[in-house]
Amino acid sequence: ASAANINLDDIQGDILIGMLKNMELFFFFGIANATDFKAKLKSDILPLVTSTTQLLDNSTQPITALNIAFSQTGLLALNVTDSMSDVPFAGGQAVDPNLGDPGTTNWVPEFVGTNIHGVILLASDTLDNINSQLASLKSALGDSVTEIYSLQGAARPDNEKGHEHFGFLDGISNPAVVGFRTPLPGQAVVPTGEILVGETGDRITGRPSWAKDGSFLVFRQLKQLVPEFNKFLTDNPIQQPGLTPQNGSDLLGARMMGRWKSGAPVFLAPLADEPELGRDTSRNNDFNYADPTTGLVNTTDQTKCPFSAHIRKTRPRADLGLPENSTSNHHIIRAGIPYGPEVSTEEASSNTTATERGLAFVAYQSSIGNGFQFLQKLWADKTNFVHGNVGFDPIIGANKGASRVVNGLDPTDPTRSITLVTDFVVSRGGEYFFSPSLSAIANTLSV
Ligand code: HEM
Repeated sequence: ASAANINLDDIQGDILIGMLKNMELFFFFGIANATDFKAKLKSDILPLVTSTTQLLDNSTQPITALNIAFSQTGLLALNVTDSMSDVPFAGGQAVDPNLGDPGTTNWVPEFVGTNIHGVILLASDTLDNINSQLASLKSALGDSVTEIYSLQGAARPDNEKGHEHFGFLDGISNPAVVGFRTPLPGQAVVPTGEILVGETGDRITGRPSWAKDGSFLVFRQLKQLVPEFNKFLTDNPIQQPGLTPQNGSDLLGARMMGRWKSGAPVFLAPLADEPELGRDTSRNNDFNYADPTTGLVNTTDQTKCPFSAHIRKTRPRADLGLPENSTSNHHIIRAGIPYGPEVSTEEASSNTTATERGLAFVAYQSSIGNGFQFLQKLWADKTNFVHGNVGFDPIIGANKGASRVVNGLDPTDPTRSITLVTDFVVSRGGEYFFSPSLSAIANTLSV
């Protein structure tokens, strides 16, 4: 199968459309014996690697989907020494100083250093399916790998399905690549090469030819302090005539995110949630922060959507001028999943997290420096982006553990600044990987 002249049979399924499953395990491993591992990569893993084509059709979706990606040290362990021309990837995430993390003190210890050689993603409808697939994989791989760390992700239950742990609907806005499926209104359409290495629009040169149709996978374990976030909203409701304290707290949360919990964008629904708009994929992404009549962005008015809102910081749309794609090559495709349990009654009543929960963040791009790292460092963490002195992204903006100032959140007083003394999202670290094409696994990585 192909679309837009890209070979969907050869591209791992998670990259363009996500795994489409409620459960996903991230299994981080080291390569203990390269010769053995290569043989098993070819005989046991490659036949299980799920392509985009397979995922696109219900009838060909496997019970448990599998994808695999390698870190820089993993490629070296396989004796693949080509430069991938990606500085963050080459160094590994633990030495990336550009993410606003206060060093690696909060990191999961296994992510510190460069011991992780690769990650296997297993996705299915049930934990049992995942565990049985993992058991058979482990017995096939034997001593060729060592298990370093695992993180089990799961969609939240019932009505919260599809929502991240703060309660907001996620997975609404991802870019489409040119020619691949019909874009929804407002969806960014980006050159294929912005996501897939070696395709049209990939601005980085010097990659080995086998890297074509692969994509860099950024993994981050982002802990979310949900009771603490809720307490902050309760303590700081926006005070406006006609709003109850609860309405005011909900409005503050929605303005921090740029969307209501239903997914409705605050730019289109500035005062109250409109759940029907949130659900409607033909409308919930159809805005660009410009005045629909003039086509211009008002760079001083934040009544509809703060300049610092998470979705505006990470994808400024017409704020950077239009058409969007000619002015920005900073798009990522997100494919993360929540991890950890629901908030317990004890945690809710004490306003304190007792058990870790958060987002197993996954982002794909053809350049980490233009993609994830750029969004985090030069947009979310930059206090003068996107207009004037907006402060940090209140959700993911990071200041090395120091407090963060956010402006424009209060529609009744845009000059009011709010200082966030705690982070509601705490980085527990991660790693940078490359998710190769199936043919690269067959012809380069396993030989
Ligand atoms: C959109 C939550 C981390 C980049 C969103 C949305 C939510 C959300 C609720 C709106 C739904 C959607 O448009 O799909 C979170 C939470 C995070 C997190 C709770 C951490 C725990 C990140 C990180 C980045 C990022 C680390 C990149 C550095 C984006 C982008 C969008 C988005 C690019 C789409 C914006 C658009 O196209 O309008 N996020 N996010 N997010 N997020 Fe995050």
